[in-house]
Amino acid sequence: MKTPQAAKRLLRCAAMRLVDLDRDMSDVIPTGTTRDSQYVFDRMTRATLAATHPGPGRRILDVASGFGQDAIELQAQGAWVVGAEPSERMMAWTRMKSGEASGSVPAWVQAWGDVLPFADDSFDAAFCKGALDHFDQPDTAIAEMARVTRPGGRVVLTIANYDSFTCRASRAADDVEELGLKRPMRRGRRHYDVPNDHFTRYDLELMREQLSAHVEIDHVEGLSLAWGLPLWTRSVGHLPEAVADTVLRGLDWIAGRAPALADVLVLAGSPKRNKSTSGDGVYN
Ligand SMILES: C[S@@+](CC[C@H](N)C(=O)[O-])C[C@H]1O[C@@H](n2cnc3c(N)ncnc32)[C@H](O)[C@@H]1O
Repeated sequence: MKTPQAAKRLLRCAAMRLVDLDRDMSDVIPTGTTRDSQYVFDRMTRATLAATHPGPGRRILDVASGFGQDAIELQAQGAWVVGAEPSERMMAWTRMKSGEASGSVPAWVQAWGDVLPFADDSFDAAFCKGALDHFDQPDTAIAEMARVTRPGGRVVLTIANYDSFTCRASRAADDVEELGLKRPMRRGRRHYDVPNDHFTRYDLELMREQLSAHVEIDHVEGLSLAWGLPLWTRSVGHLPEAVADTVLRGLDWIAGRAPALADVLVLAGSPKRNKSTSGDGVYN
């Protein structure tokens, strides 16, 4: 049952679908340009890959594999990996990247997340990192990830939290400036505004709600705190590396205890077998 608040956030235009398969999404793949960004992106990768329980012989699906770097890393650890990505341009980048990789490389499949071209129970784990908010049908994609993952396997979602401490603090500061001090509204995208290539504004409640329809959640992890707060981002860049690292780890520890406030959320669990996840035979 959706709460009215969650239902409101889920409102979106029916029948909206971006089918520009030639779209270059490389600009939406985050790159660590500041010390706190670098920390959060590394942390996101490490936590996501760990939650798939990687290892030799594991069959793992990377949904929205982007450049394919995560799939390549898991394959290098001995897993058998498939990267699924709809954009032809991203696939071209991926093939270039996997051409540079040594050893065996993942299998690349062009596919939307909500219509995965795999039989039921094909994988030991399926993950989607930093991409679900770009999907126009994220709930269907989650159902698909659960369907193609075997019972007892892992479904892992990693996503930015738009109700983080950072978003709340930035919004409060803007409210003071704009409403209290009557300063003109800031132009451009604010930290807590979702970019316009996102369909959904995720927070812990909404992620739990969408994932729990198809997955028995047993892992909720909050990563990083205060990422992108202007004063903090500038300060951490000037701190000696060891000090900065200690503080970033300390904030990360707090995020781990209060995931609702964390910058990034990792949720995982094993697939439920219900009507929406037991295959209808279409892709078998
Ligand atoms: C921000 S990138 C993330 C890529 C990768 N997971 C990473 O962590 O670097 C988002 C990716 O989602 C893909 N994407 C967008 N809509 C999708 C959909 N409906 N199904 C599957 N992938 C989609 C885009 O093509 C893009 O490569």
